[in-house]
Amino acid sequence: MSKVLIIYHSQSGNTEKMAKAVSEGAVSSGDTVNLKKAFDATADDLLNCDAVVFGTPNYFSYEAGAVKDFFDRTFFTLRGQVTDKPCAIFGSAGGGGKQALDSLEKMCNRLSLKMAFESVVAQREPSSEVLEECKGLGAKMVLS
Ligand SMILES: Cc1cc2nc3c(=O)[nH]c(=O)nc-3n(C[C@H](O)[C@H](O)[C@H](O)COP(=O)(O)O)c2cc1C
Repeated sequence: MSKVLIIYHSQSGNTEKMAKAVSEGAVSSGDTVNLKKAFDATADDLLNCDAVVFGTPNYFSYEAGAVKDFFDRTFFTLRGQVTDKPCAIFGSAGGGGKQALDSLEKMCNRLSLKMAFESVVAQREPSSEVLEECKGLGAKMVLS
């Protein structure tokens, strides 16, 4: 059984719906899930998981400040400690592109996490198809 950590931020609930779907997929495949809002997530959470999934809305063509805050708080503790740990990302945007996911991916790369799967993107509220993709992502993290 793998331990999957999901770290996300959401104000109006769109990214949160995706996070819960990722969690559902992971649980249905037999994983243990630690679902954390970004402001509450700690370096220990990432040190103690087998795989991590980050979720962010697109705010000002960038990842949410709360998600950036996680990296700001934990970078020096985690640097060199999570190399090649499987990672994936998802998020919701309001019609803009993938800029928030691009910046988030850069942060993951700075920690040398291993981007294991394609990111999942929603336009505002995730459709049922996008939620299925999120479940599939969660299920795949078990095997990553
Ligand atoms: C402060 C703020 C800034 C935003 N900036 C952008 C943006 O630059 N590009 C974009 O496509 N959507 C932008 N949006 C729209 C959100 O990305 C979109 O509504 C998203 O679904 C919100 O996700 P959430 O419900 O998880 O918070 C912005 C929303 C807020 C609140």
